[in-house]
Amino acid sequence: LFAGVADFLSSAPTVAALPPMKGVEIAFAGRSNVGKSSLVNALTGRNTLARTSHTPGRTQQLNFFDIGGRLTLVDMPGYGYAAVEKTKVEAWTDLIHDYLKGRANLARVFMLIDSRHGLKSIDTDVLDGLDKAAVSYQIVLTKGDALKKAEIEARIAGIRSAIAKRPAAYPEILLTSSRDDRGVPELRASVARLLSE
Ligand code: GTP
Ligand code: MG
Repeated sequence: LFAGVADFLSSAPTVAALPPMKGVEIAFAGRSNVGKSSLVNALTGRNTLARTSHTPGRTQQLNFFDIGGRLTLVDMPGYGYAAVEKTKVEAWTDLIHDYLKGRANLARVFMLIDSRHGLKSIDTDVLDGLDKAAVSYQIVLTKGDALKKAEIEARIAGIRSAIAKRPAAYPEILLTSSRDDRGVPELRASVARLLSE
């Protein structure tokens, strides 16, 4: 699947500008700077496909990528970034909510959580919304290269119990790093399974 061509498709600043639905779609969501765009690049093996940045708030629109004509990958703007104007934050929040709740071919949302920080209350709010709207999601821990093994195990255990009773949560938690590629093959496999369902 990911050995094929990955191509930028389009950007949508509003839900009115979404591209037509095609095939199976998956989205990468999470707080600003959690590593969404970096993981999109690691997954596709193309380092410059999605734009990344050290400063939060880099991705400001929904960015759509076509994977071999069968899969559409969506790099979302991050939430929870306080240092931008309130009107902009509200516009992003509306865009994220409208997209997540209204996209019929959205098979799964990969909810990225920084492995160093764990679930923040703003993440919990987003999970509440996804559970309520019955949008299925899977937790993906990012920046796993920055933690020791014991810390990783504790983090995974904590998140496992936090999602145990959440109806839309997929039980498997993935630990990834875009730096050293750990967990990336497992994430690819998880995506591939969605296509064969
Ligand atoms: P926004 O678009 O602003 O919401 O951010 P984003 O979630 O797309 O994050 P992005 O991929 O731009 O990465 C943010 C920062 O985290 C950059 O400085 C990356 O180099 C760093 N980063 C991303 N992935 C990893 C990782 O696996 N390990 C480490 N150590 N740093 C990472
Ligand atoms: Mg980004």
